[in-house]
Amino acid sequence: MQLLSPTQLGSLSIPNRVLFAPLTRVRADASNVPGDLMAEYYRQRASAGLLIAEATMVAGDGQAWQHQPGIHSAAHVAGWKRVTDAVHASGGRIYLQIWHPGRATHPALNAGIQPVSSSTKPLRGDTIHTPEGKLDYPAPRPLRLDEIPGIVELFRVAAANAKLAGFDGVQVHGAHGYLLDQFLRDGVNDRADAYGGSIANRARLLFEVVDAAASVFGIGRVGLRFSPLVGFNDMVDSDPAGLVAHVAAESEKRALGFLELRHANYDQAAEYELARIARQHFTGALVRNGGFTRDAGETAIADGLADAIAYGVPFLANPDLPRRFLLNAPLNQPDTNTFYLPGATAGYTDYPFLGV
Ligand SMILES: Cc1cc2nc3c(=O)[nH]c(=O)nc-3n(C[C@H](O)[C@H](O)[C@H](O)COP(=O)(O)O)c2cc1C
Repeated sequence: MQLLSPTQLGSLSIPNRVLFAPLTRVRADASNVPGDLMAEYYRQRASAGLLIAEATMVAGDGQAWQHQPGIHSAAHVAGWKRVTDAVHASGGRIYLQIWHPGRATHPALNAGIQPVSSSTKPLRGDTIHTPEGKLDYPAPRPLRLDEIPGIVELFRVAAANAKLAGFDGVQVHGAHGYLLDQFLRDGVNDRADAYGGSIANRARLLFEVVDAAASVFGIGRVGLRFSPLVGFNDMVDSDPAGLVAHVAAESEKRALGFLELRHANYDQAAEYELARIARQHFTGALVRNGGFTRDAGETAIADGLADAIAYGVPFLANPDLPRRFLLNAPLNQPDTNTFYLPGATAGYTDYPFLGV
């Protein structure tokens, strides 16, 4: 099986192409510090070609869920070190997904601080869980030009902290309608300055962050996730194909470690077309995600339209997913009720492994 053959993700050698997709599970403590429960969860999944650890706060005022992890304090670094040590002791590799929510949060989660974004457009069509209950998203405050270097610096420090915590690299979260995506897609970004208008301008912050992460790890250990057709968090773009062409070409120029295209679902024709465009402009490691089965992943690699596949929910429920793929064994079914349950081992570290 090609899925189980080794390859390179930039400067990282991986023994198989079955990656663990970033999954927020809200199992950190009330100060956003990872502990032994998280170390055990990631250790169980160390047979992945690469683990990409969940969206992790780069700033104290950038919390969107209670009990999500951070990487902006010494306590966070020490907590994550337990995770990376456990993964490495089991022979695995792990990157951290560095993330800022932008408008997709609420002052009630961040000491009353108003969320920031590219524009004043609020997230509509959804509510957010806060200590005060479910609330509407507020209107964000557009970042001033003179504040943008500070945002880039938050990500650089987060990457430096990730390195201190023993991560093998980082993935920049440019997907799902969070801050970097709020600059990237024109459904939100209506700026008239150097960070708005053309696709190149809208992608400027994203690549400043990529370059900042590369200044810490080297570009070969930096991945980038984006999701041009995913509507989650009230997102849309007028030219997804143009966006992919530009992001892929900028990634090529830099020799990015890997580019991950997150599909709404891989088997839609419009998503297939985006994969083709990404492949055309980027010759490095192309990772794809979104609804893939074992056989669909195998086909994408055989067709030359992916170098590796990130599996989210299937890996959540099957800690030994690469072995199950090898044996074509049946999969455990996920329990969606336990996806986000702070402190709980149920549906977290208790999914069974295959017998010997
Ligand atoms: C419980 C849960 C948490 C998620 N958290 C994140 C996250 O922190 N960062 C991210 O980029 N995507 C996140 N995602 C999206 C997944 O990484 C993935 O893109 C999605 O599940 C589709 O892949 P799949 O069909 O293989 O599950 C999450 C998805 C789920 C179900």
